[in-house]
Amino acid sequence: MKHSYPQYIDYPQQETALSLWRGGDLVVIPTETVYGLGADAHNGEAVAKIYALKSRPSFNPLIAHVASATIAQRYGVWNDWAETLSRFWPGPLTLVLRHAGGISDLARAGGETVALRVPNHPATLALLQAFNGPIAAPSANQSGRISPTTPQHVREEFGAACPLIIEGGACEIGLESTVVDISGDAPVLLRAGAITREMLEKALGQPLAQSLATQGELKSPGMLASHYAPQKPLRLHATHAEAGEGLLAFGHAPHAEVIEQLSEHKNLNEAAANLFAALRRLDANPKLQRIACMPIPATGIGEAINDRLSRAAARKE
Ligand code: TXA
Ligand code: MG
Repeated sequence: MKHSYPQYIDYPQQETALSLWRGGDLVVIPTETVYGLGADAHNGEAVAKIYALKSRPSFNPLIAHVASATIAQRYGVWNDWAETLSRFWPGPLTLVLRHAGGISDLARAGGETVALRVPNHPATLALLQAFNGPIAAPSANQSGRISPTTPQHVREEFGAACPLIIEGGACEIGLESTVVDISGDAPVLLRAGAITREMLEKALGQPLAQSLATQGELKSPGMLASHYAPQKPLRLHATHAEAGEGLLAFGHAPHAEVIEQLSEHKNLNEAAANLFAALRRLDANPKLQRIACMPIPATGIGEAINDRLSRAAARKE
């Protein structure tokens, strides 16, 4: 799929966005992964508005977005792993480091670490450069719901309360960034994403440690089992759709009343980019009661796709 992001934002809009951030308000920014709900990460009161608008539990910390690795070093305690992995920046990778100072307690949910990322989107990079500081930005959706990959998704999430949106086209990757914790004794994969486990292990020259969440401790609250969820029940590993089910297809699809094709030719990157928009359409279709999803291989970015699908399928309390 060819993507043509708007390469710049017009000057008046950039000035408006910067003055909103400087005044402690929210601006929605495009990134290559998903749209983010951004506020000045220095400013606890501004960050509080993010939690309020998303109804996000305040124990779930936010990613601080910066324009470069050099700027990231102001906020996170740098180490060799950071040096190695920051070569993926700008890109869909978030590094959790020990906090060096400057990021509000609320953005870190009171923790001693900070999550940092340099997003790869021309309009947002220009804006971050001009802001010259950290922007805390979770995905621009109601807490627990599907992340937005278009400006229209963001408007659907927030309605009349929607802040200014910097329109940056459909997100190229369509899944949230990979999150790696390098603040401890060994690098740990906290969230799978487009920078795959294989890519990270190759760059680091060592295997990633098992995530603490799978050992029973909740290190990254975004790893809560039920997350990224549509309202309708989702059935995984489906070979066909039953009555009332919409089919999320990957490759040749059996007959179904409603089919959303993730990738006809079984291209995992294409499937990742289409996933959230397809889930939203099936969720919104009044003819359907449930969603069935065909199996998707768990290799490469397929690990991240399967991770999001299993969270979307996990039933809430
Ligand atoms: O692609 C992305 O990462 C998008 C775009 C907007 O950059 N942002 C995003 O943010 O997905 P959010 O808040 O929806 O997810 C951030 C994840 C959560 O799982 C959170 O728990 C984890 O990162 N996280 C943030 N700070 C952390 C920290 N200090 N330690 C461990 N996990 C952290
Ligand atoms: Mg999110």
